[in-house]
Amino acid sequence: MKTHTLASAALAALLGLAGSLPAQAAETESAMARGGRLYDKYFGENKTAKPDTDHAAYPKGGKYVKDASWRCKECHGWDYRGKDGAYGKGGHATGIVGVRGAAGKDPAAIVAIMKDATHGYTDKQLSAKDMTDLSLFISKGQIDVAKYVDGSNKAKGNAAKGEGYFNTICAGCHGLDGKKVKDGPALGSVADNGAEMIHKILNGQPGEGMPALRMLDTQVAADIATYMTSLPKQ
Ligand code: HEC
Ligand code: HEC
Repeated sequence: MKTHTLASAALAALLGLAGSLPAQAAETESAMARGGRLYDKYFGENKTAKPDTDHAAYPKGGKYVKDASWRCKECHGWDYRGKDGAYGKGGHATGIVGVRGAAGKDPAAIVAIMKDATHGYTDKQLSAKDMTDLSLFISKGQIDVAKYVDGSNKAKGNAAKGEGYFNTICAGCHGLDGKKVKDGPALGSVADNGAEMIHKILNGQPGEGMPALRMLDTQVAADIATYMTSLPKQ
Protein backbone atom coordinates (compact mmCIF):
# COMPACT_ATOMS: atom_id res chain seq x y z
CA MET A 1 0.00 0.00 0.00
CA LYS A 2 2.70 2.39 1.10
CA THR A 3 4.82 1.63 -1.94
CA HIS A 4 1.81 2.16 -4.11
CA THR A 5 1.12 5.58 -2.57
CA LEU A 6 4.75 6.54 -2.97
CA ALA A 7 4.74 5.38 -6.56
CA SER A 8 1.66 7.43 -7.38
CA ALA A 9 3.13 10.43 -5.60
CA ALA A 10 6.26 10.02 -7.71
CA LEU A 11 4.14 9.65 -10.83
CA ALA A 12 2.11 12.75 -9.94
CA ALA A 13 5.31 14.68 -9.35
CA LEU A 14 6.64 13.52 -12.68
CA LEU A 15 3.45 14.46 -14.50
CA GLY A 16 3.52 17.78 -12.70
CA LEU A 17 7.04 18.34 -13.93
CA ALA A 18 6.18 17.35 -17.45
CA GLY A 19 3.14 19.61 -17.34
CA SER A 20 4.69 22.80 -16.03
CA LEU A 21 8.47 22.94 -16.28
CA PRO A 22 9.00 22.83 -20.04
CA ALA A 23 6.40 25.57 -20.56
CA GLN A 24 8.12 27.69 -17.94
CA ALA A 25 11.54 27.02 -19.45
CA ALA A 26 10.28 27.95 -22.91
CA GLU A 27 8.88 31.21 -21.54
CA THR A 28 12.21 31.98 -19.87
CA GLU A 29 14.06 31.30 -23.12
CA SER A 30 11.89 33.78 -25.03
CA ALA A 31 12.34 36.39 -22.30
CA MET A 32 16.13 35.82 -22.44
CA ALA A 33 16.13 36.17 -26.23
CA ARG A 34 14.27 39.46 -25.87
CA GLY A 35 16.82 40.48 -23.24
CA GLY A 36 19.53 39.68 -25.78
CA ARG A 37 17.88 41.94 -28.36
CA LEU A 38 17.63 44.73 -25.76
CA TYR A 39 21.33 44.21 -25.00
CA ASP A 40 21.99 44.65 -28.73
CA LYS A 41 19.94 47.84 -29.25
CA TYR A 42 17.20 48.43 -26.68
CA PHE A 43 15.51 51.32 -28.56
CA GLY A 44 15.30 49.18 -31.71
CA GLU A 45 13.50 46.48 -29.70
CA ASN A 46 11.21 48.50 -27.39
CA LYS A 47 10.73 51.43 -29.80
CA THR A 48 11.45 54.08 -27.16
CA ALA A 49 13.03 57.40 -28.19
CA LYS A 50 16.68 57.25 -29.24
CA PRO A 51 18.83 59.09 -26.69
CA ASP A 52 20.41 62.22 -28.21
CA THR A 53 23.07 62.74 -25.54
CA ASP A 54 26.22 60.69 -25.01
CA HIS A 55 26.06 58.09 -22.23
CA ALA A 56 27.93 59.55 -19.22
CA ALA A 57 30.13 56.44 -18.86
CA TYR A 58 31.12 56.43 -22.55
CA PRO A 59 34.77 57.57 -22.99
CA LYS A 60 35.16 61.17 -24.18
CA GLY A 61 36.40 61.27 -27.76
CA GLY A 62 35.00 57.79 -28.49
CA LYS A 63 33.58 57.10 -31.98
CA TYR A 64 30.15 55.68 -31.12
CA VAL A 65 28.35 58.61 -29.49
CA LYS A 66 24.71 59.64 -28.89
CA ASP A 67 22.23 56.71 -29.16
CA ALA A 68 25.03 54.25 -30.08
CA SER A 69 26.76 54.94 -26.75
CA TRP A 70 23.68 53.66 -24.87
CA ARG A 71 23.72 50.16 -26.39
CA CYS A 72 24.90 47.61 -23.79
CA LYS A 73 26.96 45.92 -26.49
CA GLU A 74 28.86 49.15 -27.21
CA CYS A 75 30.56 49.10 -23.79
CA HIS A 76 30.39 45.38 -22.97
CA GLY A 77 30.92 43.80 -26.40
CA TRP A 78 29.23 41.16 -28.58
CA ASP A 79 31.34 38.58 -26.76
CA TYR A 80 30.27 40.05 -23.37
CA ARG A 81 33.98 40.39 -22.50
CA GLY A 82 34.41 44.18 -22.85
CA LYS A 83 38.07 45.21 -22.77
CA ASP A 84 39.13 41.56 -22.43
CA GLY A 85 37.48 40.58 -25.71
CA ALA A 86 37.20 41.80 -29.31
CA TYR A 87 36.50 45.39 -28.15
CA GLY A 88 39.84 45.44 -26.33
CA LYS A 89 41.28 47.21 -29.38
CA GLY A 90 40.12 49.11 -32.47
CA GLY A 91 37.41 51.72 -32.99
CA HIS A 92 35.03 50.19 -30.44
CA ALA A 93 37.57 50.02 -27.60
CA THR A 94 36.31 51.68 -24.38
CA GLY A 95 38.46 50.04 -21.71
CA ILE A 96 35.25 48.97 -19.92
CA VAL A 97 34.79 45.57 -18.25
CA GLY A 98 32.62 42.82 -19.71
CA VAL A 99 29.51 41.28 -18.21
CA ARG A 100 30.81 37.68 -18.07
CA GLY A 101 31.44 38.21 -14.35
CA ALA A 102 27.72 38.86 -13.83
CA ALA A 103 26.69 35.47 -15.25
CA GLY A 104 24.84 33.60 -12.51
CA LYS A 105 24.28 36.77 -10.47
CA ASP A 106 20.89 37.45 -8.87
CA PRO A 107 18.78 39.13 -11.61
CA ALA A 108 17.55 41.74 -9.08
CA ALA A 109 21.15 42.83 -8.47
CA ILE A 110 21.62 43.22 -12.24
CA VAL A 111 18.50 45.40 -12.44
CA ALA A 112 20.04 47.56 -9.69
CA ILE A 113 23.25 47.91 -11.76
CA MET A 114 21.28 49.18 -14.79
CA LYS A 115 19.73 51.88 -12.58
CA ASP A 116 22.96 52.80 -10.74
CA ALA A 117 24.82 56.10 -11.13
CA THR A 118 27.20 54.63 -13.75
CA HIS A 119 24.38 53.33 -15.97
CA GLY A 120 21.46 55.66 -15.30
CA TYR A 121 18.80 53.92 -17.43
CA THR A 122 15.38 55.44 -16.62
CA ASP A 123 12.01 53.70 -16.69
CA LYS A 124 11.20 55.67 -19.85
CA GLN A 125 14.13 53.90 -21.54
CA LEU A 126 13.72 50.45 -20.00
CA SER A 127 10.39 49.34 -18.51
CA ALA A 128 10.21 46.90 -15.59
CA LYS A 129 9.69 44.07 -18.11
CA ASP A 130 12.64 45.24 -20.21
CA MET A 131 14.84 45.28 -17.07
CA THR A 132 13.67 41.77 -16.11
CA ASP A 133 14.36 40.36 -19.57
CA LEU A 134 17.78 42.04 -19.71
CA SER A 135 18.73 40.79 -16.25
CA LEU A 136 17.68 37.24 -17.18
CA PHE A 137 19.79 37.45 -20.30
CA ILE A 138 22.85 38.64 -18.36
CA SER A 139 22.35 36.21 -15.48
CA LYS A 140 21.32 33.05 -17.33
CA GLY A 141 21.19 33.72 -21.05
CA GLN A 142 24.66 34.85 -22.03
CA ILE A 143 26.89 32.14 -23.41
CA ASP A 144 30.67 31.79 -23.28
CA VAL A 145 31.16 33.01 -26.86
CA ALA A 146 34.93 32.54 -26.62
CA LYS A 147 34.30 28.80 -27.06
CA TYR A 148 32.77 29.39 -30.49
CA VAL A 149 35.13 31.99 -32.01
CA ASP A 150 38.88 32.02 -32.57
CA GLY A 151 41.34 34.67 -31.37
CA SER A 152 40.41 36.97 -34.27
CA ASN A 153 36.66 36.67 -33.59
CA LYS A 154 35.95 34.33 -36.55
CA ALA A 155 33.26 31.75 -35.85
CA LYS A 156 34.55 28.18 -35.39
CA GLY A 157 32.10 25.81 -37.01
CA ASN A 158 31.33 23.37 -39.77
CA ALA A 159 30.63 25.43 -42.90
CA ALA A 160 29.01 22.53 -44.80
CA LYS A 161 26.45 21.98 -42.03
CA GLY A 162 26.08 25.75 -41.75
CA GLU A 163 25.14 26.01 -45.41
CA GLY A 164 22.31 23.53 -44.91
CA TYR A 165 21.04 25.40 -41.85
CA PHE A 166 21.34 28.78 -43.57
CA ASN A 167 19.58 27.70 -46.74
CA THR A 168 16.65 26.20 -44.82
CA ILE A 169 16.27 28.61 -41.87
CA CYS A 170 17.58 31.98 -43.03
CA ALA A 171 17.38 32.15 -46.82
CA GLY A 172 13.59 32.56 -46.92
CA CYS A 173 14.09 36.10 -45.67
CA HIS A 174 17.75 36.82 -46.47
CA GLY A 175 18.06 34.96 -49.79
CA LEU A 176 20.54 32.19 -50.57
CA ASP A 177 23.13 34.95 -51.15
CA GLY A 178 22.29 36.85 -47.91
CA LYS A 179 21.34 39.95 -49.88
CA LYS A 180 17.55 39.81 -50.08
CA VAL A 181 16.60 41.99 -47.05
CA LYS A 182 16.49 45.40 -48.71
CA ASP A 183 17.08 47.64 -45.67
CA GLY A 184 19.94 45.54 -44.30
CA PRO A 185 23.54 44.91 -45.34
CA ALA A 186 24.62 41.89 -47.39
CA LEU A 187 25.12 39.31 -44.62
CA GLY A 188 28.51 38.38 -46.08
CA SER A 189 29.70 41.93 -45.32
CA VAL A 190 29.07 41.61 -41.57
CA ALA A 191 29.86 37.89 -41.14
CA ASP A 192 33.50 38.31 -40.07
CA ASN A 193 32.28 39.47 -36.65
CA GLY A 194 31.71 35.95 -35.32
CA ALA A 195 30.49 36.95 -31.85
CA GLU A 196 27.97 39.43 -33.29
CA MET A 197 26.62 36.81 -35.71
CA ILE A 198 26.26 34.22 -32.95
CA HIS A 199 24.54 36.76 -30.67
CA LYS A 200 22.04 37.71 -33.38
CA ILE A 201 21.39 34.12 -34.49
CA LEU A 202 20.66 33.06 -30.89
CA ASN A 203 18.53 36.10 -29.94
CA GLY A 204 17.21 37.62 -33.18
CA GLN A 205 17.42 41.14 -34.60
CA PRO A 206 15.97 44.00 -32.45
CA GLY A 207 12.49 44.99 -33.59
CA GLU A 208 12.39 42.48 -36.48
CA GLY A 209 10.52 39.22 -36.98
CA MET A 210 13.76 37.27 -37.17
CA PRO A 211 13.79 33.95 -35.27
CA ALA A 212 15.91 33.38 -32.15
CA LEU A 213 17.61 29.98 -32.28
CA ARG A 214 18.73 29.86 -28.66
CA MET A 215 16.89 26.61 -27.91
CA LEU A 216 19.16 24.82 -30.40
CA ASP A 217 22.72 23.74 -29.68
CA THR A 218 24.92 26.86 -29.85
CA GLN A 219 27.14 24.95 -32.27
CA VAL A 220 24.33 25.33 -34.86
CA ALA A 221 24.72 29.12 -34.61
CA ALA A 222 28.51 28.78 -34.92
CA ASP A 223 28.13 26.54 -37.99
CA ILE A 224 25.79 29.09 -39.64
CA ALA A 225 28.11 31.99 -38.78
CA THR A 226 31.07 30.09 -40.25
CA TYR A 227 29.22 29.47 -43.51
CA MET A 228 28.12 33.13 -43.69
CA THR A 229 31.74 34.28 -44.09
CA SER A 230 31.66 32.76 -47.60
CA LEU A 231 28.57 34.75 -48.70
CA PRO A 232 29.07 37.67 -51.13
CA LYS A 233 30.36 40.79 -49.33
CA GLN A 234 28.27 43.17 -51.43
C1 HEC B 1 28.59 53.75 -21.77
C2 HEC B 1 29.09 52.49 -21.28
C3 HEC B 1 28.17 51.46 -20.70
C4 HEC B 1 26.97 51.03 -21.23
C5 HEC B 1 26.25 51.50 -22.46
C6 HEC B 1 26.51 49.96 -20.37
N1 HEC B 1 27.40 49.75 -19.35
FE1 HEC B 1 27.35 48.26 -17.99
N2 HEC B 1 29.08 48.94 -17.15
C7 HEC B 1 29.78 50.06 -17.56
C8 HEC B 1 30.88 50.30 -16.65
C9 HEC B 1 31.87 51.45 -16.74
C10 HEC B 1 30.85 49.23 -15.71
C11 HEC B 1 31.78 49.03 -14.52
C12 HEC B 1 31.09 49.82 -13.45
C13 HEC B 1 31.67 49.85 -12.15
O1 HEC B 1 32.72 49.24 -11.93
O2 HEC B 1 31.00 50.48 -11.31
C14 HEC B 1 29.71 48.41 -16.05
C15 HEC B 1 29.34 47.26 -15.37
C16 HEC B 1 28.24 46.47 -15.69
C17 HEC B 1 27.88 45.24 -15.02
C18 HEC B 1 28.66 44.59 -13.88
C19 HEC B 1 29.70 43.66 -14.45
C20 HEC B 1 30.34 42.81 -13.38
O3 HEC B 1 31.20 41.98 -13.75
O4 HEC B 1 30.01 42.93 -12.21
C21 HEC B 1 26.73 44.78 -15.60
C22 HEC B 1 25.96 43.52 -15.25
C23 HEC B 1 26.37 45.72 -16.62
N3 HEC B 1 27.30 46.71 -16.65
C24 HEC B 1 25.25 45.60 -17.41
C25 HEC B 1 24.90 46.49 -18.42
C26 HEC B 1 23.69 46.38 -19.22
C27 HEC B 1 22.65 45.29 -19.10
C28 HEC B 1 23.71 47.43 -20.09
C29 HEC B 1 22.64 47.84 -21.09
C30 HEC B 1 21.29 48.01 -20.57
C31 HEC B 1 24.93 48.17 -19.83
N4 HEC B 1 25.62 47.59 -18.81
C32 HEC B 1 25.33 49.28 -20.56
C33 HEC B 1 29.50 50.84 -18.65
C34 HEC B 1 28.42 50.67 -19.51
C1 HEC C 1 11.50 36.12 -40.87
C2 HEC C 1 12.58 36.71 -41.62
C3 HEC C 1 14.01 36.44 -41.14
C4 HEC C 1 14.62 35.23 -40.92
C5 HEC C 1 14.01 33.82 -41.04
C6 HEC C 1 15.98 35.54 -40.57
N1 HEC C 1 16.18 36.89 -40.55
FE1 HEC C 1 17.92 37.86 -40.18
N2 HEC C 1 16.99 39.65 -40.32
C7 HEC C 1 15.69 39.82 -40.77
C8 HEC C 1 15.40 41.25 -40.86
C9 HEC C 1 14.09 41.86 -41.33
C10 HEC C 1 16.56 41.91 -40.44
C11 HEC C 1 16.74 43.41 -40.33
C12 HEC C 1 17.44 43.97 -41.51
C13 HEC C 1 18.86 44.21 -41.16
O1 HEC C 1 19.13 44.95 -40.21
O2 HEC C 1 19.73 43.64 -41.83
C14 HEC C 1 17.54 40.88 -40.14
C15 HEC C 1 18.83 41.13 -39.71
C16 HEC C 1 19.83 40.18 -39.62
C17 HEC C 1 21.20 40.45 -39.28
C18 HEC C 1 21.78 41.81 -38.93
C19 HEC C 1 22.40 42.46 -40.12
C20 HEC C 1 22.93 43.82 -39.72
O3 HEC C 1 24.13 43.93 -39.45
O4 HEC C 1 22.12 44.75 -39.64
C21 HEC C 1 21.87 39.26 -39.31
C22 HEC C 1 23.34 39.04 -39.04
C23 HEC C 1 20.91 38.24 -39.67
N3 HEC C 1 19.68 38.84 -39.84
C24 HEC C 1 21.20 36.90 -39.81
C25 HEC C 1 20.23 35.90 -39.95
C26 HEC C 1 20.52 34.50 -39.94
C27 HEC C 1 21.90 33.90 -39.87
C28 HEC C 1 19.32 33.84 -40.04
C29 HEC C 1 19.05 32.36 -39.96
C30 HEC C 1 19.50 31.71 -38.73
C31 HEC C 1 18.29 34.85 -40.14
N4 HEC C 1 18.88 36.09 -40.08
C32 HEC C 1 16.94 34.59 -40.26
C33 HEC C 1 14.79 38.83 -41.04
C34 HEC C 1 15.00 37.47 -40.91
